[in-house]
Amino acid sequence: MSEPLLRIANLKTHFRTKGVGLFGKKKVIKAVDGVSFDIAPREVLSLVGESGCGKSTVGRTLTHLEKATSGEAQFEGRNFLSMTSAEFRPLRREIQMIFQDPFASLNPRLKIEQTLGEPLFIHGLCKTWDEARTKIAAMLETVGMDPKVMARHPHEFSGGQRQRIGIARVMILKPKLVIADEAVSALDVSIQAQVLNLIKKLQRDSGVSMLFISHDLGVVRHISDRVAVMFEGKIVEIGEKHQIFEAPEHDYTRKLLGSIPRVKIGKEVT
Ligand SMILES: Nc1ncnc2c1ncn2[C@@H]1O[C@H](COP(=O)(O)OP(=O)(O)OP(=O)(O)O)[C@@H](O)[C@H]1O
Ligand SMILES: [Mg+2]
Repeated sequence: MSEPLLRIANLKTHFRTKGVGLFGKKKVIKAVDGVSFDIAPREVLSLVGESGCGKSTVGRTLTHLEKATSGEAQFEGRNFLSMTSAEFRPLRREIQMIFQDPFASLNPRLKIEQTLGEPLFIHGLCKTWDEARTKIAAMLETVGMDPKVMARHPHEFSGGQRQRIGIARVMILKPKLVIADEAVSALDVSIQAQVLNLIKKLQRDSGVSMLFISHDLGVVRHISDRVAVMFEGKIVEIGEKHQIFEAPEHDYTRKLLGSIPRVKIGKEVT
């Protein structure tokens, strides 16, 4: 196996709440509590588990949106959790996030052209707007949008189209790792499949690695190479997709699979 792109060891992200718990102590929520995994180049690892198990917190910690309590995360061999924001800046282009709600992540006041173009300048990938517009037009076509839409604003688009624009904004930066957090969960079922196929095609064509966070096992089955099952801040089982879906070893994984009737499950499950 090739060297991992991302290696996480014993990652913990705990939150201290304002509320006072037993014996006057502040309550600590152990959202992520000792998570370890690797992601190889070109690999798609999915993170599944019920609501509140800590999936998003893993993604948010890896993009410095939350501060890790302890543990290590290496990207191409560099430990980046302890980096200052200035040190982390070059990695911001290489580690990109796709969010559930594309509307919340697109500035309503900016034209699509600005939304896609400004990051190109920030990261030094373009010098002129002519150059930027050429890249933006090509990227919009890649995600199945007419390049003319660059003159419009986010409210003029449907949810599926907005998510395509959100994906374009990420992919135009040529990241090495994409963290997709419930990227298709907010879309209508009919649109979900189209956007999921687009993500899969872009991932295959570009070779980007992906951490695909989802509570939807049908979606996960479609897109993943490997699957990590999370429960109460910990990974209870991790393995190849076929092993997880057809021969799950952990009771919790079996329960999770059992709760999705359309997913084929192993014989040992009743
Ligand atoms: N900033 C925060 N401050 C305090 N608690 C938080 C914070 N962010 C998350 N939590 C808590 O940490 C736990 C894990 O939350 P997280 O959002 O990571 O779960 P999730 O698996 O992504 O859930 P969902 O499937 O609903 O998106 C939850 O109990 C949540 O309330
Ligand atoms: Mg979440």
